[in-house]
Amino acid sequence: MTIRISGTGSALPKKILTNDDLSKIVETNDEWISSRTGIRERRIAGEGESVVTMGSEAARRALENAGANAGEMDLILVATCSGESYFPSTACQIQAEIHADHAVAFDISAACSGFLFALHTAQAYLSMGVYKKALVIGTETLSRVVDWTDRGTCVLFGDGAGACVVEASEIGLMNVVQHSDGSQGEVLISHASTFPTPSEQQGHPAVPLQMDGQAVFKFAVKTVPQCITEVLEQAGVHPEEIKYFVLHQANKRIIQSVAKRLKVEEEKFPVNLDRRGNTSAASIPILLDEMNRDGMLTRGDLLVLSGFGAGLTWAAALLTW
Ligand code: ACO
Repeated sequence: MTIRISGTGSALPKKILTNDDLSKIVETNDEWISSRTGIRERRIAGEGESVVTMGSEAARRALENAGANAGEMDLILVATCSGESYFPSTACQIQAEIHADHAVAFDISAACSGFLFALHTAQAYLSMGVYKKALVIGTETLSRVVDWTDRGTCVLFGDGAGACVVEASEIGLMNVVQHSDGSQGEVLISHASTFPTPSEQQGHPAVPLQMDGQAVFKFAVKTVPQCITEVLEQAGVHPEEIKYFVLHQANKRIIQSVAKRLKVEEEKFPVNLDRRGNTSAASIPILLDEMNRDGMLTRGDLLVLSGFGAGLTWAAALLTW
């Protein structure tokens, strides 16, 4: 027994921030951003838009797409690293919004790998028969975490949410590999800043998101092909059999490098980061929903999903759509 994705949904903020708009905020330009990252614009949450409102909207759309209702959900797992409160969890807030009264809800923190870590957790519960139906959601407002004076990071991120309804099934998620390396946590870090430490109170403000971009780049281009190869070898599946490789949307150059290392044509790596930016845990479910609604997915297709990010954490999953 495993799980199958029976519906997808996504929700994005209304406001579009282009690279030209960014050049009015920090010293940058469209050529620098698009040539180094592939990003041309991103959505930024405005007043009244949050991880809860977007996550709830994505969940409602996924439920509609699956032909299910919120009351049938046994479990809500939310992957986020930009929740607005330490507690209650974003998952519990979404549960209340969508009236999934009967579900157990909690958050999973694994940054940009979060959606895959949550999907794997759902599989563990559902394949054991503990629960039958779950919502797995990635929802982020990284725009509220980044330093808008740091041109090296603020140009990379966008906001949004994606959700999948998953159900216990004989066919679907085949296998997942997950990895963590806490010893490299410093290369991508965002300190909690709600409660300043004594030294911060003495005039050293908590620092928002900080990144060693080149270290993250090297980590991604090495570990992502490795863990995709690992998940394929475990299942005895060849890369040529895969219809699409749905990667976390961090950077076009990372995706191109992964395709090259796996010796797979780039056309098999769908990309929406040009319009969405890096939406962290939301990037994979948003892209999956766009592919689903564009008619790119047919039942029986083999897909690989792969996420990588802060922690450091990384994961790959092989599934039959
Ligand atoms: N506009 C113009 N110039 C800039 C900008 C900008 N937005 N940002 C940095 N620069 C400048 C730097 O100041 C530096 O100038 P200098 O040479 O005068 O000192 C120059 O550009 C080069 O800076 P680098 O940081 O060395 O640029 P690099 O070529 O490494 O590109 C980038 C930076 C795009 C972040 C790259 O390291 C990368 O893609 N890293 C992967 C990280 C990533 O994708 N993170 C996403 C979050 S993590 C995740 O989702 C897994």
